[in-house]
Amino acid sequence: MSLAVRPKTIPTSTDRKAESGMDAAPRNALPSHHVLLALPVAWLCLAWHGVGLSAAELTPLETLGQKIFFDTTLSNPAGQSCASCHAPEAGFTSPDADENSLGAVHPGAVKTLFGNRKPPTIAYASQSPKFSAGGEGEPTTGGLFWDGRVADLQEQATKPLLNPLEQNNAGAADLLKKLNAAAYRALFETVNGQGSLAISPDNEAKILDRIATALAAYEASSEINPFSSKYDAFLAGKVKLSEQEARGLELFEGKANCFSCHPSRPSEDGKPPLFTDYTYDNLGFPRNPKNPFYRMPTSINPDGDKAIDLGLGGVLKDPKQYGRFKVPTLRNVDKRPTGGFVKVFGHNGYFTSLKAVIHFYNVRDAGTESFDPAEVPETVNHTELGNLSLTDAEEDDLVAFLKTLSDGYIVPKSPTTPTKPRQPVVPATYDVPKPAVPAESGPLTVLPHDFAGARQAIRVFRFVEHKRTR
Ligand code: HEC
Ligand code: HEC
Repeated sequence: MSLAVRPKTIPTSTDRKAESGMDAAPRNALPSHHVLLALPVAWLCLAWHGVGLSAAELTPLETLGQKIFFDTTLSNPAGQSCASCHAPEAGFTSPDADENSLGAVHPGAVKTLFGNRKPPTIAYASQSPKFSAGGEGEPTTGGLFWDGRVADLQEQATKPLLNPLEQNNAGAADLLKKLNAAAYRALFETVNGQGSLAISPDNEAKILDRIATALAAYEASSEINPFSSKYDAFLAGKVKLSEQEARGLELFEGKANCFSCHPSRPSEDGKPPLFTDYTYDNLGFPRNPKNPFYRMPTSINPDGDKAIDLGLGGVLKDPKQYGRFKVPTLRNVDKRPTGGFVKVFGHNGYFTSLKAVIHFYNVRDAGTESFDPAEVPETVNHTELGNLSLTDAEEDDLVAFLKTLSDGYIVPKSPTTPTKPRQPVVPATYDVPKPAVPAESGPLTVLPHDFAGARQAIRVFRFVEHKRTR
C-alpha cells in the first residue's frame, strides 16, 4: 500500500462557483490516483501499516450523492446546497466567516430565516452508531444532530431539502422536477434505473429515498472519511509530532482529561480514533446572545429571547437530560480555508476560538473569572471539567494538538527514520474506575492493552458520576 498521504481533492468553493449544478458538463470525477478502500481493511491498514490515505474513487452511487450534495439548484430559491453549510474547506461546517461572527447559525435558502444551532461537521458522521436512548446503567449514545433526534444518515439526508429554515423545497414533486433539469440527470438514471426521473406518482414516492440513499453513500465514502490528518500519520509512525503538539497530546490524555469524552487512541481492532464517545453532556456552554434565532418570528421561535435549547432532554422529554448535547468529533475542528477565517465552536457557536473553548474547560469552576450562566445549570457536568489547573502555555499546547486533526496532511519527504506505530494502550495516567453499576456484559475487567474495555469503563464511570451529581 502506498505510504504517501495525499491531499484531498474535494471541490473548493471556488471550484463550485465555476460549475453551478446547472452546467452542461458535469463536474469531473475525482482524479485517477484515488483508490477504493474497503473500509474494514482500510482501517487496519490505516492504523498500523502506513497511511493509505490517497483519496478514494467514488462509486456511481457515491458520485451521485456528491453531485446532489454540491447542487445549489435543489433549494428554493436556488442558491443553497448542503455544502453551503457543510463545506469541505471549513471541515464540513459553515464556509461563511461573516455568518460565523454574526451568530454562528446559518441562514437557510430564505435568507431571513435561521435555525438555532451551528452546523456540525458531517465528516465522520457516518461512523456514528445509531441512536440508543440508554437506560439504567447505560448512557444515551449515537444518533445525529446535536440532540440525537435522527437515527442515522439515511433518515437525516432529506430533511434539510424540505426544512423551511434550510433548503426549503415544498415537497417531493418539486425535487423530482428539479432533478430532471440537473446536469447529472443521466447519472441519476444510471444509478436508479431508466425512467426513474419520469414524472409519475411512483417516482415521486421514491424520490426522497433515492436522494437519501445517494447522499448517505457519499457521506460514508472515503472522500468524507479520509483519516488523513497529521495525527493519523503520527499513529501510523509516519511522522513525529512537534514538541508542542506532543505536549498537547499528553495533556489531552492526561491532566486536561479530554480523552474521556473525545477518545484519541485506535481501538483494539485497529479502527482509528473518532474523538467522540458518542455520549451526550452538558458543559454549561452559555447561550449565544448573537444567535439570530432569538429574533425569529414567534411562528418559528415562540419563546423569543427566553428560548432555552434543551438539547437531548428536549428530544427525550426528560428533564434529567436537559441541556445535554452530543460530544462532537474533534477531527477537522480547526480546518479552515485561510488562517484568519473565523470558525465557531459548541452547539450554538458561542466560542470563536479553540483557545476560548479550552480556557472555559480550564477555569469555568475555578472562581477566578465569571462566565455567562449555563442555559440549564441543573445538569452541568462539574466532575470532569471546569477546574483543570492548566497554565496558559498548556492551553496553547492543547490548541496545537487539535490542529493536527485536520485532514489533508502531506507527510514531508525526509530521510528521518520513521517512528514506531503507536500501540493502543491505556494511558499511564488513567485510573481504571470501578463501575458501581454492572455493565451490560457483566463485570468489567480492564486489562492493559484492552482499550475498548477501558472506553466502556469510562462510559460507565461517567454515567455513574452523572447520576451521583444529579
Ligand atoms: C442552512 C444550513 C444547512 C444546510 C443547507 C444543510 N445543513 Fe446539515 N446541518 C445544519 C445544522 C444547523 C445542523 C445541526 C442541526 C441540529 O443539531 O439541530 C446540521 C446537521 C447535519 C448532519 C448531522 C451531523 C451530525 O454529526 O450530527 C448531517 C449528516 C447533515 N446536516 C447533512 C446535510 C445534508 C446532506 C444537507 C443537504 C441535503 C445539509 N445537511 C444541508 C445546517 C445545514
Ligand atoms: C465530559 C465530556 C467532555 C470532556 C471531558 C471534554 N469534552 Fe469537549 N465537548 C463535549 C461536548 C458534550 C461538547 C459539545 C458541547 C455543546 O456544544 O454544548 C464538546 C465540544 C468541544 C469542542 C467544540 C467542537 C465543535 O465542533 O464545536 C471542542 C473544541 C472540544 N470539545 C474540545 C475539548 C478539549 C480540548 C477537551 C479537554 C480539555 C474536552 N473537549 C473535554 C464533551 C467533552
